[in-house]
Amino acid sequence: MNRPPVTRALFDEVMVPNYAPAAIVPVRGEGSCLWDQEGRDYIDFAGGIAVTVLGHAHPKLVAALTEQAQKLWHVSNVLVNEPALQLARRLCELTFAERVFFANSGAEANEAALKLARKYAADHAGPDKREIIAFTPSFHGRTLFTVTVGGQTKYTEGFEPLPPGITHVPFNDLPAFAAAISDRTCAVIVEPVLGESGVVSA
Ligand SMILES: Cc1ncc(COP(=O)(O)O)c(C=O)c1O
Repeated sequence: MNRPPVTRALFDEVMVPNYAPAAIVPVRGEGSCLWDQEGRDYIDFAGGIAVTVLGHAHPKLVAALTEQAQKLWHVSNVLVNEPALQLARRLCELTFAERVFFANSGAEANEAALKLARKYAADHAGPDKREIIAFTPSFHGRTLFTVTVGGQTKYTEGFEPLPPGITHVPFNDLPAFAAAISDRTCAVIVEPVLGESGVVSA
């Protein structure tokens, strides 16, 4: 069955508007270049917000993905995953880390980091050490916890009640940060480079 081509306008009709993508529909990429439906070329400065750091359609990545897709796609958490184990071992060998947690998104990674900080504090310091210090305006993901930690009301309005135990101080306000630290603090989360209201380094 022939279906009509999709357009950017279709996004506004059929997708939940939790983002406002650009006006083009990219259909192909190579390295740092993108091509849209009309064949216009672009330099992709976003790079998938750092996800596609190897560039689009890198031949080695395409080969690895194709090879794996022909062998085994998905086995869920109830079975171990051979390539994931190999990568985890390599990461442990090459970095400070003793163990690896793989996540599907930045939001999940940050959510896990925040939960781990609270769990560690609960196990080692008791129930009062729960407080997370974060900076405004930040962005740490779109789960309820991470969007609350990000501290931007435009992303939390309507989702209340929000998770408690989060203290916000203005980004780069060191006196306010120092004043916020207490015996109840179990974690501090900060973007090295703030991207939500200009590009501001910490
Ligand atoms: C600084 C920062 N943290 C966290 C996230 C969340 O990542 P994801 O969209 O993969 O959940 C983003 C996404 O843009 C981000 O820019």
